[in-house]
Amino acid sequence: MARRFVSTTRRLVLAGLVAGILAGCQSMGSGMADMGAKKSLYDRLGGQPAIVAVVDDFVGNVAADGRINGFFARTDIPRLKRLLVEQICAGTGGPCTYTGRDMPSAHRGMNITNAQFDALVEDLVKSLDKFKVPAQEKNELLGVLGPMRPSIVGQ
Ligand code: HEM
Repeated sequence: MARRFVSTTRRLVLAGLVAGILAGCQSMGSGMADMGAKKSLYDRLGGQPAIVAVVDDFVGNVAADGRINGFFARTDIPRLKRLLVEQICAGTGGPCTYTGRDMPSAHRGMNITNAQFDALVEDLVKSLDKFKVPAQEKNELLGVLGPMRPSIVGQ
């Protein structure tokens, strides 16, 4: 009787563990491969191809934005795009190293205002919306870039 009780208890505990693990993996959306790891923002955005597409479109918006495009008159645009992709990739948990200048150095002497910073963010949001980036990922990305404001505005 005692033996039977123990083995039944063990079986129940085991079944519970298995059920718990399966439920946990399912709730993460893509099976056992993701066990225990929440996807990075980089992955949830769609990785490198999605970031390249958004940055391309975003820089296009900036180039057409009369409020701020004057700043970029002498900028090497392919280089800027490459650095923005690196920066977003690295800042969202992707496998990149940002090789550009730090934000104060890159924007020194430009005297960028808060309104101009907001204009650029608006141009980025337009692209994120165009590519249907979900609100959660959009807000997380803006949460990565927003704190850079004081190192860019008024430099
Ligand atoms: C979160 C906002 C911003 C981010 C993440 C950002 C990021 C960058 C990066 C990565 C670079 C390249 C750095 C390098 O040359 O080594 C750069 C350059 C530049 N940024 Fe920004 N930036 C932001 C806001 C702004 C704003 C608001 C303006 C102007 C309205 C601006 C104007 C420029 C210009 C003109 C350059 C090119 C400088 C050059 O040609 O040497 N940026 N930015």
